[in-house]
Amino acid sequence: METYLEAEGLTKYFDGVAAVEDVSFVIRRKEIFGLLGPNGAGKTTTIRMLSTVLAPDAGDVCVGGHSVVREGDEVRKRIGICPQELALYPELSAVDNLVFFGRMAGLSGREATARARAVLAGVGLEARGNEVVKKYSGGMQRRVNIGIALMNRPELLFLDEPTVGIDPQSRNHIFETVLALRAEGTTVLYTTHYMEEADRLCDRIGVMDRGRIVAVDTPAELKRQVGDPDQTTLEEVFLHLTGRSLRD
Ligand SMILES: Nc1ncnc2c1ncn2[C@@H]1O[C@H](COP(=O)(O)OP(=O)(O)O)[C@@H](O)[C@H]1O
Ligand SMILES: [Mg+2]
Repeated sequence: METYLEAEGLTKYFDGVAAVEDVSFVIRRKEIFGLLGPNGAGKTTTIRMLSTVLAPDAGDVCVGGHSVVREGDEVRKRIGICPQELALYPELSAVDNLVFFGRMAGLSGREATARARAVLAGVGLEARGNEVVKKYSGGMQRRVNIGIALMNRPELLFLDEPTVGIDPQSRNHIFETVLALRAEGTTVLYTTHYMEEADRLCDRIGVMDRGRIVAVDTPAELKRQVGDPDQTTLEEVFLHLTGRSLRD
């Protein structure tokens, strides 16, 4: 299968301590790739480097044929980012948030308005799109934030812990959105510290611990390396790989 993203030797230090160290992996076109690891493993720092938010101290990433280090503008045209912390205007309606961020991404007013309606339906919020976002539940706000990341029709969508602290209904909506995006041909990078989520959604998983990737494979293959794939959990895989539990 065709490679869409290739990270090579990614490294980032904070105050002399490596948050991400020599991380290399590929994401194939149209797959859901999970980055799974406990809090502090380096998932968000990795996503930030992959998406041009943070410059690596060493290494590079090729996204859709372009280097994040040398061709940031070309990379940004092709990606959508839903950050771990919500990034939207609580005083604006969902539609106005989407239109605003669509214009920021270079859409005309007319295009942004049409796209906002389509995106809102995609995340299951069309009935409440004109309400101010601060009245929404956390899960609905998260769905608006995913919508913002979709305004420019990204080839690759980054979702950083999209389901933390949200209601089950929104969680299911997010799963459905991610699966629908894959069916449409979007490539997705999904970080989580919930093993069941990674197991259920992801085509392949990179297991991260202490700034490093310790394994990359399909969920079934990761389990097979530890025991009977039908009886093994990703928790057991993590324990096997790192000698400790994934739970906080
Ligand atoms: N801006 C920053 N300044 C200093 N340390 C940071 C910064 N961002 C992340 N870190 C540290 O880097 C490590 C990895 O963090 P992070 O990438 O957020 O992990 P994860 O997303 O897997 O929870 C942690 O030890 C965290 O405290
Ligand atoms: Mg994080």
